[in-house]
Amino acid sequence: MKKVGVAILGLGVVGGGAYKILTEQRDFYRTTQGVDIEVVSVLERDPERIRSLGVRSETVASNVFEVVSNPDVNIVVECIGGVTEAKGYVLDALNAGKTVVTSNKELVCKCSHELERAAKRTNAGIYFEASCVGGVPIIRTLLDGVQSNRISSIQGIINGTTNYILTRMGDGMSYEDALDEARKLGYAEADPSADVEGFDAAYKLSILSSLAFHTKVPFSKVFREGISGISKEDVEYGSRLGYTLKLLAIGKDTDRGIEARVHPAFVKNSHPLASVNGGLNAVCLTGNAVGDLMLSGKGAGALPTGSAIVSDVIFAATHEGNRYSAFKNTAKADSDVKFVTDYESAYYLRLTLADRAGALSKLTALLAKNNISIVDLVQRPDGADSATVVLVTHTTHEMSVKSAVARINTAGIAKVGSVIRVLS
Ligand code: HSE
Repeated sequence: MKKVGVAILGLGVVGGGAYKILTEQRDFYRTTQGVDIEVVSVLERDPERIRSLGVRSETVASNVFEVVSNPDVNIVVECIGGVTEAKGYVLDALNAGKTVVTSNKELVCKCSHELERAAKRTNAGIYFEASCVGGVPIIRTLLDGVQSNRISSIQGIINGTTNYILTRMGDGMSYEDALDEARKLGYAEADPSADVEGFDAAYKLSILSSLAFHTKVPFSKVFREGISGISKEDVEYGSRLGYTLKLLAIGKDTDRGIEARVHPAFVKNSHPLASVNGGLNAVCLTGNAVGDLMLSGKGAGALPTGSAIVSDVIFAATHEGNRYSAFKNTAKADSDVKFVTDYESAYYLRLTLADRAGALSKLTALLAKNNISIVDLVQRPDGADSATVVLVTHTTHEMSVKSAVARINTAGIAKVGSVIRVLS
């Protein structure tokens, strides 16, 4: 039987999950895949991780050179994260002719062209299913399942940590407690600001929209806004109006150009994304032939992300030659590709205004002047002489809302507390 040796760099949540799956299912893969995949080397500095996974001491390498010069290693799994150290290690592996499987979205998003060039030079492979949406096989879907289509839209919930936090805030928990739970569940990045400020989702959207639209959508072109400014008050008002708050990633290929944005957004409770809760993720695709498609599953955590890694390992171990993706990303976009920044969206606004005759009419008049029409509005007196007004607009333009909000504030018509996009 063909033997394939695997090395794992980093035995944190994801590397540990991949290690567990590969060792526990080795016999199953021998039977079902006809190949004997063995973890022959690991690189991990934390002795506690090595002990808790029961890693044999003779497989623990002391540096990356030991790993990439080991003739028994065919595939190197990179689960270190970040760019600086991980990129060097991945290039070392590729330069030594080892196929690389990585879960590192920042690395794939920013450096895939360099990695692919190195891989082709030594006839090695480079696979990255685990970089996006944990256990949901979205990369394979884009490369294989829907390649017959022109994809016009890819949108969804692609970060487990923020989805967990927003779900728990909807249950009444504080932001801090919810983040703490997400960390304990192994969803959050080593630095959770990568999750809550939207970086993680933006890296993934850059990868997914580049693949979906067959064009370069560099990270710098992805609009990004996180959830750290979201208040419980807004989650509650939204809920009263029939909406659930999510951190959405939205990519569109439109007549006006490419749209790529990550930001919190209210979705109607009847929308399929509203019921994607906790650590679950979901991606909705629209293709010209297939129509609408939704994939949903666990987007983070040891075993779901490990599942994606091991599927790539099996693919590499069982195929002759390598498959390089249609991935086009680089650090810069092509000059002839336009990016849309004046999106169309509906908006939720929370404002405080004087509780006296004519205050609301001044507000609505200013919105009307900016061509912004209101779908829903609630008002609650705050005591003294002010009131909170929460309104949802019809679909309008990002720039119209920005300029209206600036005028509302400067003209003293009201104080705008929050502006949150609404999926229209
Ligand atoms: N921190 C990421 C998340 C892990 O919360 O989705 C999976 O990429």
